[in-house]
Amino acid sequence: MANILVIHGPNLNLLGEREQSIYGKQSLEDINRGMVDKAVEYQVTVECFQSNHEGDIVDRIQAARGKFDAMIINAAAFTHYSIAIADALRSFKGPIVEVHISNIYQREEYRHNSVISAVATGGIFGLGTQGYQLALQAVVKMLKESQ
Ligand code: DQA
Repeated sequence: MANILVIHGPNLNLLGEREQSIYGKQSLEDINRGMVDKAVEYQVTVECFQSNHEGDIVDRIQAARGKFDAMIINAAAFTHYSIAIADALRSFKGPIVEVHISNIYQREEYRHNSVISAVATGGIFGLGTQGYQLALQAVVKMLKESQ
């Protein structure tokens, strides 16, 4: 059974209460539950991790090497400047899908650059919280096709 790690960056623990007009009403718990439910249907396992701390995210990515087959990551604000997270992702073998709930290219200019995109297999942005479900679907398909 394939193992998929989902990483959520800073402030995503406040989804549902934080800037609802941009990020929607779903809480992080709702999003994670939705993916875990889908994982049962897809016959994969999904583990979700959220942290507000860059180093903790780097540690989690490093620890995922050899244990997880694919990763879904919304690095939130770290997306735009964390070379440490991008470098950690470079050490991970397996598909990496970058997710952003909002369309980062329609927002402030400092959100237009993602250092994660250079490392990710692909990405989904601007489709709201359903982006996570779409990312999971894509990852499962990629893993099946690579078998
Ligand atoms: C975000 C976009 C980032 O610019 C922002 O800092 C976030 C969330 C998104 O999912 O749209 O926290 O990654």
